[in-house]
Amino acid sequence: MSLQLGDTVPDFTQDSQLGQINLYDFGADSWVVLFSHPADYTPVCTTELGEVSRLRPEWEKRNVKTIALSVDSAESHNGWICDINETQNTTVDYPILADADKKVSDLYGMIHPNSLNNLTVRSVFIIDPNKKLRLQITYPASTGRNFHEILRVIDSLQLTDHHSVATPVNWKDGDDCVVVPSISTEDARAKFAKGVTEIKPYLRMTPQPNK
Ligand code: BEZ
Repeated sequence: MSLQLGDTVPDFTQDSQLGQINLYDFGADSWVVLFSHPADYTPVCTTELGEVSRLRPEWEKRNVKTIALSVDSAESHNGWICDINETQNTTVDYPILADADKKVSDLYGMIHPNSLNNLTVRSVFIIDPNKKLRLQITYPASTGRNFHEILRVIDSLQLTDHHSVATPVNWKDGDDCVVVPSISTEDARAKFAKGVTEIKPYLRMTPQPNK
């Protein structure tokens, strides 16, 4: 049974280049981005892990911790991290799970045999502080991910968890939001002090409430 949005994610303890990582303890009260990549010493993965490291201030601003995973050993990760640091102008300081026994990959459905036999594809899981799965995306091995998109989704989730809005196409932090359908326009006008524009009865826009 694959994981679905809203599920409590399964806990695990697995080795990494930083020692044993327990997901629930590591995540604690933070959001977690768990992402798999096919293998160490591969070019696209090298750029991805470098970017996640360079984005450290952006993760911290949002109370997010990152965990990478591949089915290589911790020793291999340590050697590869030297290359990532050298070539990507960063210092990788987050755990890369050493999932050589595929314990976590199998638990999270990260191996897609018809795509990459026995290697993890590019899966991304956004997990909230209550350990609920809030997003999962799977990319093919040949396509590097856009981690600004992952940050954008986290911005949307953190906003919409606390305000009765949703975020429209291509939304980014600071843009106008959509009023959720469950609120009448009259109630929305009372709720959103910055105003509500009714384009259609079902399409109401309001400035981002927490800006
Ligand atoms: C890469 O990370 O560069 C890569 C890995 C597996 C297949 C294709 C590309």
